Amino acid sequence: MSEQGFKPKHILATGGCGFIGANFVRYVARNHPDVHITVLDKLTYAGNPANIDGLPQSQVELVIGDICDASLLERIVPGCDAIVHFAAESHNDNSIFDPEPFIRTNVEGTMRLLEAACKYDVRFHHISTDEVYGDLALDDPARFDENSPYRPSSPYSASKAASDHLVRAWTRTYGLRATISNCSNNYGPYQHVEKFIPRQITSIMEGVRPKLYGTGENVRDWIHTEDHSSAVWEILTRGRIGETYLIGADGEMSNIAVMRMILRLMGCAEDAFDWVRDRPGHDRRYAIDSSKLRTELGWKPVRTDFEAGLQATIAWYVANRAWWEPAKAATEARYRAQGQ
Ligand code: NAD
Ligand code: DAU
Repeated sequence: MSEQGFKPKHILATGGCGFIGANFVRYVARNHPDVHITVLDKLTYAGNPANIDGLPQSQVELVIGDICDASLLERIVPGCDAIVHFAAESHNDNSIFDPEPFIRTNVEGTMRLLEAACKYDVRFHHISTDEVYGDLALDDPARFDENSPYRPSSPYSASKAASDHLVRAWTRTYGLRATISNCSNNYGPYQHVEKFIPRQITSIMEGVRPKLYGTGENVRDWIHTEDHSSAVWEILTRGRIGETYLIGADGEMSNIAVMRMILRLMGCAEDAFDWVRDRPGHDRRYAIDSSKLRTELGWKPVRTDFEAGLQATIAWYVANRAWWEPAKAATEARYRAQGQ
């Protein structure tokens, strides 16, 4: 079944105060001023209402609450015609240290939303990750596509894999109008300082040597969060119901290459970093083949110059010290407790 021409009037964006959710809310507010957005966010350590500051109050409304709260969903879901589900516990290192919140939010929370979306016949788009497919060898020419087998490695990726399966089950069994997208590593403004790129930028700004896990050979497939937003919009409005689309921008880079680029762009010696203990079960390489999305929906990324995107991201963290500074000390304390 096709959802050709679906034009949402009122989107419920779960996790809209997090990194990718907030960038999507900003994207919709800028490009589709006639679409109303309700952000549902629990404001965990990763959620920050400042991420959606400055947007018109007549268009964007914040509801602080938990996606696991069925009675809250009963109140807000009926007024919406689409749910774009970003809310999650999103950080692998945290999931290794304490998996429980990941199962609760990513699995139970997704199930609660699916129940509400079904009951009120609301179009559902599920934001997922390439990590559900496990990893690839460094020298393997293969990339993930929509037919790759599920082989998640960490508690985080296992919980996201479970949530994908729930979405498919609700689509097939109860007729939910849903799509799924699995995207590669995002970077850009408003990303929490626990993640690789912001952690290194903000450490350098504080005069602390950045930290590379293991051998640094692990490869991630980087995409600017703005390109993720445009892909999600295309899938939401023109994607085929029941389908999964992989989102990627052909941005494979080793961690050590990204680390050296950050150091160089910030005027430091390229070897001015420390090697630290590796992440247990560390996925070696992610790589996305996004041909289906490009061919079927005509989407293509525009922010494909990674060095320019990284330079702009560094400039954003330099200009927005007051945004990240309050979270930095607690984040580094958590890393110290984990030996990283
Ligand atoms: P994030 O950690 O920056 O933001 C998550 C948001 O969800 C926060 O605002 C948080 O407060 C909110 N949240 C957490 N638990 C909640 C709950 N129980 N109820 C309501 N709100 C809750 O995460 P992100 O990096 O923006 O990732 C967003 C989504 O995109 C996730 O589903 C993640 O799996 C997926 N994803 C992320 C990437 C990436 O590179 N960061 C890549 C592909 C997919
Ligand atoms: O692939 C999509 C996934 O990308 C998303 O599903 C996750 O939500 C998102 O967090 C991200 O997962 P990663 O584990 O790849 O991202 P992270 O930023 O934690 O780490 C990127 C790489 O950098 C990874 O190989 C680990 C390494 N790393 C990370 C940190 C924080 C370091 O070498 N040093 C560090 O300090």
